[in-house]
Amino acid sequence: MSGKITIFVLLLFLPISSTSSSDDVLLLSKNETLASPGDVFELGFFNPGKVSNWYLGIWLKQDPDRTALWVANRDHPLLGSHGTLRFFNSNLILFDRNNNHVWSTSIDGTVRRDVVVKLLKNGNLVVKEAASDTNQFLWQSFDFPTDSIFSGMKMRTGTGNKLKSWINPNDPSTGVHFLGVTEEISGFWFYEEQEYGTEINLVDLWNGYSFGDMPPIFQVEGDTSSQQQSLVMTTNHGKFSRLRLGPEGIYEVYTWFSKHREWNLSWSVNDSCFLISSCKSYSFCSAYTTPRCNCIEGFSQKLDITWTGCTRVTNMSCSQDRFTTLHNMKLPNVRDVQVSWSSDLQNCEENCLANCHCTAWFVESEEERHGKCVTWYGELEGMRNYTFGGHDLHVRIAPTDHGVG
Ligand SMILES: *[C@@H]1O[C@H](CO)[C@@H](O)[C@H](O)[C@H]1NC(C)=O
Ligand SMILES: *[C@@H]1O[C@H](CO)[C@@H](O)[C@H](O)[C@H]1NC(C)=O
Ligand SMILES: *[C@@H]1O[C@H](CO)[C@@H](O)[C@H](O)[C@H]1NC(C)=O
Ligand SMILES: *[C@@H]1O[C@H](CO)[C@@H](O)[C@H](O)[C@H]1NC(C)=O
Ligand SMILES: *[C@@H]1O[C@H](CO)[C@@H](O)[C@H](O)[C@H]1NC(C)=O
Repeated sequence: MSGKITIFVLLLFLPISSTSSSDDVLLLSKNETLASPGDVFELGFFNPGKVSNWYLGIWLKQDPDRTALWVANRDHPLLGSHGTLRFFNSNLILFDRNNNHVWSTSIDGTVRRDVVVKLLKNGNLVVKEAASDTNQFLWQSFDFPTDSIFSGMKMRTGTGNKLKSWINPNDPSTGVHFLGVTEEISGFWFYEEQEYGTEINLVDLWNGYSFGDMPPIFQVEGDTSSQQQSLVMTTNHGKFSRLRLGPEGIYEVYTWFSKHREWNLSWSVNDSCFLISSCKSYSFCSAYTTPRCNCIEGFSQKLDITWTGCTRVTNMSCSQDRFTTLHNMKLPNVRDVQVSWSSDLQNCEENCLANCHCTAWFVESEEERHGKCVTWYGELEGMRNYTFGGHDLHVRIAPTDHGVG
């Protein structure tokens, strides 16, 4: 019988106190906590909203509100603060007062001797063999973020590493909004998806520095063994920070002020452009104009009663056309695009000009003047501008329409 099955059977049918496994160690119960070296983080039980549901979580030890950075049993609360966290057959398991198993690290494979649990100084809760290398973990909480990532954690591409919102501020159960990172045509994108949704929504493109106008809290880190890149969350101008996906699907950056012992909101995706669904045909949203949607230079508002976007002042003439450059832009929705490698900006522009259906182009790295060349075909939609960050987008217009619209 495999180790996994053994664990399962024992859990269901034997009270834990009757087992005498040598690695059956009592770790935490009731209101005891485990602190990281340096006393920065703390692992323990908390009850948000003062209801009788209790959760095992990690927070900053200095935080009087115990704002949860990570939650173990988010979907299986303890009914009362009498939880016990123990090792059993190399797995860390949370039991309620009746010795029911409510959460486990679910480490597969053979039972190992001498496993230890540690809350590292970066806030990572890890399970490892006592004798193994410092960085070889059988399990780590950083691989299972809840609604937040904080300085030192990584956002990897792929489905396992995404943030999942709480149901509401008093209930950490898995909500309906997810936020992840994917590597698409022109680099890293933040994507949002809903629990029952069928499509993912690319929301913000990494511009080599930040996502949109979010503070620059990420750095790209390559993994030499897997050749995969991931985004490592750094600090916000030297301050410990946290990116959180709220219950309504709004993501925000919080900064820790140790002197005041409080988390403060320092950036939110929720501005007036986020609230309107998207600006249609050849228009872009600005948070500072009324109406929010603005026609691109060379385009004028369509003459209809409801705002449906903008139309060209002069039709495209193909080879005679020029480009107007929009700065600090969120790029158009990724539909009808082509991506190629471009050794210089001129090349990308010429490619677009040579195709009479190409409406815009963008080069990943303008400073280096080369990179992925992205060209759009058809109507441009879903754009906005930012005060900082974003990208330079070059939109095709008739030469006579410079300064028009
Ligand atoms: C833990 O709980 C017990 C009883 O509920 C209480 O007497 C004790 O002060 C608590 N300890 C801490 C550190 O809060
Ligand atoms: C944090 O936000 C609160 C409420 O907006 C404010 O009163 C406080 O001064 C802020 N703290 C810091 C350190 O900025
Ligand atoms: C988003 O911003 C609007 C306008 O400031 C505000 O009314 C709303 O409560 C915000 N929503 C969230 C979830 O923060
Ligand atoms: C511009 O193009 C549209 C659609 O192709 C066409 O209906 C319209 O007549 C054209 N206008 C001019 C001035 O050529
Ligand atoms: C965005 O574009 C609008 C319209 O052109 C302009 O008024 C505004 O200053 C730009 N910047 C931001 C941050 O909205």
